[in-house]
Formats: sequence, C-alpha cells, structure tokens
Amino acid sequence: MSLDVITIAGARPNFMKIAPLSWAFGRRPSVRHRIVHTGQHYDANMSGRFFEDLRIPEPWRNLNVGSAPHGRQTAEIMSRFEPLLEEDRPDVVVVVGDVNSTIACALVASKMGIPVAHVEAGLRSFDRSMPEEINRLLTDAIADVLYVTEPSAVRNLAHEGCDPKRVVMTGNVMIDTLLEFRERATHSDITERLGVPRKSCVTMTLHRPSNVDDRVKVRALVDMMTEVASLAPVVFPIHPRTRTRIKEAGVDLASIPGLVTCDPLGYVDFLALMDRSRLLMTDSGGVQEEACLLQVPCLTLRDNTERPVTVDVGVNRLVGSNPAEALRVAKLILRDGAGKMGIPEMWDGHAAERIVTDLVARFSGPGSPA
Ligand code: UD1
Ligand code: UDP
Repeated sequence: MSLDVITIAGARPNFMKIAPLSWAFGRRPSVRHRIVHTGQHYDANMSGRFFEDLRIPEPWRNLNVGSAPHGRQTAEIMSRFEPLLEEDRPDVVVVVGDVNSTIACALVASKMGIPVAHVEAGLRSFDRSMPEEINRLLTDAIADVLYVTEPSAVRNLAHEGCDPKRVVMTGNVMIDTLLEFRERATHSDITERLGVPRKSCVTMTLHRPSNVDDRVKVRALVDMMTEVASLAPVVFPIHPRTRTRIKEAGVDLASIPGLVTCDPLGYVDFLALMDRSRLLMTDSGGVQEEACLLQVPCLTLRDNTERPVTVDVGVNRLVGSNPAEALRVAKLILRDGAGKMGIPEMWDGHAAERIVTDLVARFSGPGSPA
C-alpha cells in the first residue's frame, strides 16, 4: 500500500502548518509527498525564508499567482492548479488554514473527484465580512476529512450538520512547529539586533483588512501604539499590506519614541521575539495560538476570534478594534501581569503525526510510491 499526496501552501501562515506534515510524510517510505506553492505570497520574508528556516522540501511546482483581488487571485490559482492534477493525479490533496489558496485548491480537487483533507478545520469567527470566514465555511463544506485543533471546531461542524466520521481532533500543527524550533529560538540575537531588552518589550502585528484598510482606524491604532510605546518598548514587524496602508494614511512611525519597526521577520527570530515579550498585541490568528504555548499574554485587536480556546485558557483577551480598550487592558497587564494561563488539550507537538497516520489509513491505494 502507498499514499500519493499533494499539500498546498500559498501564504505565510501556511508554511508553519505544512512544515511538520512534510517531516512526518518524509519519515514514511510508502508516501510520495509533493508540495504545490500557489505563489499567493512571494517576497523572501513572506515565503522563501520559511522554507529554509523550517526545513520544508522545495515545492514540486510553484503556480506564481502573485497578488490580485480575491476573485481574480482565487480563479488564477484554480486555473493553474487544475492541469497539475490532470497531469499527475494524487490520492489526496491536503489544504491548511483559511487563505484564498486553501479554498481554490480544495475546490479544484473536489470537482475532479480527488479526496480533500482540511487541516485546521471547523474554526468560525461568525463574521462573514472576513474573507477567511468564507474560505473556512466553503472548504469545510467540500472537504472529505476535517482535522480540528480545538473543541469549538467540533461543535461548529456538528452544528452545521457535518457527519462526525469526517471530523478528527488532532491538536495543532502550528504548535508542532513551535515546539520543534523553540530551543533553536533561544539562540536568536533578534532582540539585540533590534536594540530591545529581553522580557520587557511588547510585540505587535497587524494585517487584517478590517484594521488596516481604513485610514481612520489605522491612525487610531497608531495612536494607541504610541501610548503603549511610552510604557514599554514596542516592536512592530510590518506586514506588506500594512506598510502600504500606513504610508497611504500619511503616518510617520519613525518619529514615535519607543517604537521599533522592522520588515516581517523569519520564523525563528519572530518566535524568539514573542518568547521574550511581556505582551503580544495582534490581529493574527496564528499568534493567538502561539501565545498559549509561550505563556505570553495576548491582546487580540478584533471583535471576534475563531480560536476561542485561546481565550478559555486565559492567554488571549479580545479587546476589539477599539484602541482605547486595547490601551486600558495593555496598561493593566504591563502593571499587574495576566493571571493564570493554561495550554489547550492535545497541543503537544504530535498533531502532524496523528494527521499523517489517519491520511495513510484512509487514502492509501495499492501500488508503490513513484
Ligand atoms: C493573506 C490571507 C490572510 C492571512 C495573511 C497572512 C487571504 C484572503 N488572506 O492576507 O488570511 O492572514 O495572508 O499574512 O488569503 N504583498 C506583498 N508581498 C507578498 C505578499 C503580499 O507585498 O509576498 C502585498 C501585496 O500588496 C498584496 C497585499 O500584500 O496586495 C496583501 O496580500 P494578500 O495575499 O492579498 O492578502 P494578505 O493581507 O497578505
Ligand atoms: N510570523 C513570522 N514573522 C512575522 C510575523 C508573524 O514568522 O514577522 C509568523 C507567526 O509566528 C505565525 C504566522 O506568522 O506562525 C502567522 O501568520 P500571519 O499572522 O501572517 O497570518 P494569520 O495567522 O493571521 O492567518
């Protein structure tokens, strides 16, 4: 018996999710594993660097789609992915997360009758103005097997009428990667290079269109950042979407005392930076989860989260997109600390192994790997 599998990656948060899957596939001689990179993200610091940092094998193909509005980007990925599946049909296509590459490739494979597995399924923000929520709902509706990270996902899928046989609780592949690289991150010199003291800075990331695409909101968030930076050094690695929007809003970050900005960081440096922070302030999905393992308090600058377990364990607090509330809670945590924090169940470093074991059992066909 053998398994022929294609895994899809396209944007930054996909790479840390496919890394442990690629290591687990690599340990099984009966598996032929190929990675297709859609090219949704393409800058070295949003893509290429992660392949080196995370020991991910070279993609079999890169679709080089680049940036475009949602409809065009999704369509472009679909039209470039379909011929690859016609050329060399796998037993299963694995998609991760909730980006445009996820739904585009799931839809192509599903229409061709190729089984689809969705890693990090079932998360719901219940906010359909988020492009990711649409991607999650549609991908879960068509995927054959749904690997989930937290109890809320099981409930959401049950509520949507999903057959429980399709749902498998596996833990969190992003956490597998964090645990694999945490020791290496202790050797990073990122805090020295940025000139911030260890264990006393605040790390901030922002890239959700709901926060950064509106000029008034961007300015208010920068005002909040300025206030926080007067209490503790703030490090702000800037996502390319956000860099463009801040420039358009006419904001000068260089003049803010205590604020250190930089380009997006590589995985190990960013992990080291989070691990050495007193507080994380973010609208990222992945950072909310990583905060739990690092036991660093996290304030999520959104009105909702599709990852409620991070709140349940006492690590994450939703402060909404209201900067005044974010500042109030940040002040409290910087003064008093965050209180008791826990770690979600099964976030133990073995999620990818569970997923690959299940994939092999479900989808292996006769024959030997090519
Ligand atoms: C995408 C995902 C989002 C994810 C985020 C992670 C969707 C709908 N959105 O959002 O879920 O949280 O990635 O970072 O899939 N750009 C560059 N270089 C790059 C990539 C992008 O300069 O390598 C710029 C381009 O101007 C582009 C903008 O960033 O227009 C936004 O990129 P895009 O992939 O459309 O969305 P993200 O905001 O990155
Ligand atoms: N990340 C990184 N460098 C940075 C910022 C984030 O390596 O400068 C990592 C972060 O640790 C997490 C992932 O990127 O593993 C999260 O991706 P992102 O915030 O872009 O997307 P989201 O999780 O919101 O979809």
